[in-house]
Amino acid sequence: MPYFELAFDTRRPSARVRCVAVADVEHEKRVAAEAAAALVDDGSTVGLGTGSTVAYLLPALAARSLTLRCVATSPRTEAAARELGIDVQPFEGVERLDIAIDGADQIAPDGWLIKGGGGAHTREKIVAAAADQFVVIADSSKPVPALHAPVPLELMSFGLRATMRQVAPAALRDVPLSPDGGVIADYHGPVEDPAALAVRLSSTPGVVAHGLFPPQMVATVLVGRGKSADRIDFTPGS
Ligand code: 5RP
Repeated sequence: MPYFELAFDTRRPSARVRCVAVADVEHEKRVAAEAAAALVDDGSTVGLGTGSTVAYLLPALAARSLTLRCVATSPRTEAAARELGIDVQPFEGVERLDIAIDGADQIAPDGWLIKGGGGAHTREKIVAAAADQFVVIADSSKPVPALHAPVPLELMSFGLRATMRQVAPAALRDVPLSPDGGVIADYHGPVEDPAALAVRLSSTPGVVAHGLFPPQMVATVLVGRGKSADRIDFTPGS
């Protein structure tokens, strides 16, 4: 029996109240994650993302009993995967990946993503870039007509106040440092032109990584809806 929650969406410019069937959202995450697990071939090298949708991917992958070499995008995912008997190796020793599977915070119609709600976007971007096929898994709340703030940032501690001034408007997030010692913050300005904003953020000294992922990085998006997953394929490199 689904239960409903009032959700105050403070991540939007005008906070709105939504009535969300929580059980439906969890079901959609599971459906998308299971569809992604079915795309993994035996013998593959696999990048494992981070978040509540990926939490459904791990048991679905483990249940297939494949021989895999995986790398994890966060200590949390690494621990959860190992618990399920999935072989997780240090990324220092793996040159490329066949497939990476991860969640997203926002998915635009043209394939631009915002990631990093869990502050793991730096490692997630390195893993996605190393994969021949980057598959995004999401519930139906994640596709949006246009990307909007916040855009997660990972910043160097050195010169932090000066970097924050360069990327304004932005705010520090009250979370621990990243596993690589980075400070997590969020850019809160306009995102009308994601490509221009990505260039601006990437070219700011002190920014380790931002949460804008370009469509060229994305092969497939799987969105759980009802009993199945909608699949959108993007052409890498287009
Ligand atoms: C973590 C991420 C997550 O993939 C993103 O926040 C989506 O998370 P969830 O699946 O819990 O909605 O980018 O840094």
